[in-house]
Amino acid sequence: MAVPRSNKESDKWNERYQAKGQTAGAANLSPVYVLHKFQHLLPVQGLALDLASGLGANALFLAQHNLQAHAWDISSVAIKKLNVIAKSLDLNLNTEVRDVVARPPEENSFDVIVVSHFLDRQIMPNIIAALRKNGLLFYQTFTKLRAQETGPSSDKYRLGKNELLDLCKDLDVIVYREEGLIGNTGSGFRNEALFVGQHK
Ligand SMILES: C[S@@+](CC[C@H](N)C(=O)[O-])C[C@H]1O[C@@H](n2cnc3c(N)ncnc32)[C@H](O)[C@@H]1O
Repeated sequence: MAVPRSNKESDKWNERYQAKGQTAGAANLSPVYVLHKFQHLLPVQGLALDLASGLGANALFLAQHNLQAHAWDISSVAIKKLNVIAKSLDLNLNTEVRDVVARPPEENSFDVIVVSHFLDRQIMPNIIAALRKNGLLFYQTFTKLRAQETGPSSDKYRLGKNELLDLCKDLDVIVYREEGLIGNTGSGFRNEALFVGQHK
């Protein structure tokens, strides 16, 4: 019998998180650049989701900013580790082992959604619809065009030029950055694109 996609995916990620050893210390967990740099845009309260959270650095950051933070990931190992970290920091997180492709967020359910280093094009409409009025999407992930070899080996998980703008065209654009190979590729924001958009 064929193994369901979801099981194969969770096994793959569980192995990776298991291999990383225990938590690596909460202090090593920094939120993704787009969230850190544009944190001043966050609402003072509300419901926030770190989608495909991994060890949940974004979720912890959101919780530290007074938001009711949720972290969803397909890897039970990552979520288990995240729970340990959250407890050690005395932060209240709502974690869930969840395949977000099979079960994307419900419509109109979050004020903030953060997605970093995860790309599944088919659920982009669900992610956008999951934002409440004036809700914000912070997105950052790898691009096909890159100056350094970092990120996934398959281009399937990488953005084409301006693709994030296209995928999020129903949102108002607040911030977009994609530097490609322009100028001195040894500096700047390379290998990834970032976006902050607001639901109308
Ligand atoms: C490259 S990691 C990024 C983790 C984190 N967002 C970050 O930036 O460090 C990709 C994450 O996506 C999760 N993932 C992959 N497929 C998923 C799915 N269908 N549903 C939920 N999480 C998934 C993996 O378990 C992994 O934690």
